[in-house]
Amino acid sequence: MAQKIDGKAIAAAVRAELKEQVAAMTAAGNTPGLAVILVGDDPASRVYVSNKEKACADVGIRSEEFTLPADTTQEQLLELVHTLNAREDIHGILCQLPLPKHLDDKAVIAAIAPEKDVDAFHAANVGHIMIGDYTFLPCTPAGVMELLHRSNIDVAGKHCVVIGRSNIVGKPMAMLLLHENATVTICHSRTQNLKEVCRGADVLVAAVGRAKFVTPDMVKPGAAVIDVGINRDENGKLCGDVDPAVDEVAGWLTPVPGGVGPMTIAMLLKNTVTAAQK
Ligand code: GUN
Repeated sequence: MAQKIDGKAIAAAVRAELKEQVAAMTAAGNTPGLAVILVGDDPASRVYVSNKEKACADVGIRSEEFTLPADTTQEQLLELVHTLNAREDIHGILCQLPLPKHLDDKAVIAAIAPEKDVDAFHAANVGHIMIGDYTFLPCTPAGVMELLHRSNIDVAGKHCVVIGRSNIVGKPMAMLLLHENATVTICHSRTQNLKEVCRGADVLVAAVGRAKFVTPDMVKPGAAVIDVGINRDENGKLCGDVDPAVDEVAGWLTPVPGGVGPMTIAMLLKNTVTAAQK
């Protein structure tokens, strides 16, 4: 049996630390404020946004939701972003992705003021991360690093394999591991010998978006396996990218739910506090 990395408990510890910071900031008249933009009626996005807002309320961050209809135009969305960029009481701006197909997510991300980009998706922030000189880290990769730190898993000199190369998770994840002196391999749908590459990993991060994709034969005995996936299995039940049977082989494993998910939200709160402090 693998040791469980309890993201829910670790996120609660991070949130408790932030709560104290926010209380001090509020006493000084600087309550952090987060604007959350949701376009359309994607049910999963609705749930994610609600969870983010509840977490804000829990630590004392003021969140404001801007729900726009699915037929919102690019101009209307950009106008809202510009308005929020100019507001002094809004320190962070998050536009929940994916956007409806007719909208250009790249243009929206580019329009968010980099100092309010608490997702760290803006090219300026991505560049800062690349050179290791950053204010914000993207929430999911930062959450994974926090899980590793607080579980005393040192990645220096280790072989870390990231499955998935998205701008939101895979690419920045690889960079953060590299910053901590890991030897990093990024795998994706075109990778040859995927199983063998994964079996070489001391730390395996699965960010594929496919239910139970990582099977026990892909895992080195004793490896730390971090499951970033949130999928539905054949019975509609929430599951990760990692087959639960990996528990028999891995040394550490994050559960789904209750692993990376709560950490992503905790890191969003942290970024919002950082933005308000700047
Ligand atoms: N959609 C899925 N994950 C994320 C995230 O971390 N931030 C935003 N804005 N949208 C998402």
